[in-house]
Amino acid sequence: MYQVPQVCDSIYYVGVNDRMKALFENMWSLPSGVAYNSYLIVDECTTLIDTVDVCYSDIFFHKLDLVLKGRPLDYLIVNHMEPDHGGSIGLLRKRYPQMQIVGNKKTFDMLRGFHGITEGLHEVKSGDALRIGRHEFSFLMAPMVHWPEVMFTYEQTSRTLFTADAFGAFGALDGILFDSQLADRSAYFREMRRYYATVIGKYGSFVQKALTNMQRQGLDVDFVCPTHGVVWTKEGFGEALALYERLSRFASEPGAVVLYGSMYGNTEQLADVIAQSLAAHGVEQVVCHNVSKSDPSVILSDIFRHRGLIIGSPTYCGELFSPIEHLLQLIRIRDVKDRLYAAFGSYTWAPGSVKRLLPFAEEMKWELVGEAVELKMSDLGTVLDAGWSLGQAMAERIKASCSPDSIQ
Ligand code: FEO
Repeated sequence: MYQVPQVCDSIYYVGVNDRMKALFENMWSLPSGVAYNSYLIVDECTTLIDTVDVCYSDIFFHKLDLVLKGRPLDYLIVNHMEPDHGGSIGLLRKRYPQMQIVGNKKTFDMLRGFHGITEGLHEVKSGDALRIGRHEFSFLMAPMVHWPEVMFTYEQTSRTLFTADAFGAFGALDGILFDSQLADRSAYFREMRRYYATVIGKYGSFVQKALTNMQRQGLDVDFVCPTHGVVWTKEGFGEALALYERLSRFASEPGAVVLYGSMYGNTEQLADVIAQSLAAHGVEQVVCHNVSKSDPSVILSDIFRHRGLIIGSPTYCGELFSPIEHLLQLIRIRDVKDRLYAAFGSYTWAPGSVKRLLPFAEEMKWELVGEAVELKMSDLGTVLDAGWSLGQAMAERIKASCSPDSIQ
């Protein structure tokens, strides 16, 4: 007989899998879907933590009905209002008009803006408690761990921490719930980093603050429940925490990303020379991305991972190749810190791309490495040595500047 999955005896998983949507936030690919996690705690009062994307509200409400068995829903705790989690709040309120919605001032402003809800609200601040029977919740504000209203909720009886987007990942839950059930942990951590780089990446300093606050509380945690991806067990959570600690500091591994655009293959030839030189000079992890083909979310994820970034562009109408311009903007708005940077390019009748790529180092406060190389038409022979030297210079700086610790 079907059973709604459970985190522990009193916490039910009532989230849903979305394998239909092609792009998360209409930008980031979802090759393995995504899960919108929601948790229902059954006690003297029934309490739901976060909802799901409104497209999945029917399935979600059916799961709620299975657990509630006719009981009303007394509380909804809103840790995060982004519509992938807050999308079903309006419909939920119609089903349970007496339900109290628990959140902070910023949550309530968004409840009004997204759902027109202004009543039945229970405001909490950091350190406040809410008892629903043998379970008691406390709240920890985590602003900008994606949005300003984000908060974490801790339930002390089950020692469970609900963390909104933090510690989440892309990917539907294929029949499992806990990290201990993952068949391929490395692949999961890749999707976790891709999620961080695309969705949360800009807000590293806020993530650091939230992690510090978590540690200050000294919470005894058996389960960590994000709004996407697996539930972390006590044993597995250390690895997720370590990854977040590194990502939020923009810590990097001793590898390099060679990101290039190429209209006719000439800039790509130069990219290959530089990549070969990087490898020949001891950089073990070299990733080449053709900006016109590679998934932007994977490019960003690799940039969050590696210390070196070498960007190449053809000169296009006197400017940068437009897809490269777009990637620069994606990097810029994430304020990626502490990278080693180099540039190369190509042109036919008037140089221009390198001149436009070089100031990116100063803008991002990155170290500029080596002499930029610019290829005229397809005369690769004239720049082979310069490309090789650029790769060598970057390899030497990467090896000199990276500590050996690494993330997955
Ligand atoms: Fe998964 Fe920021 O919403």
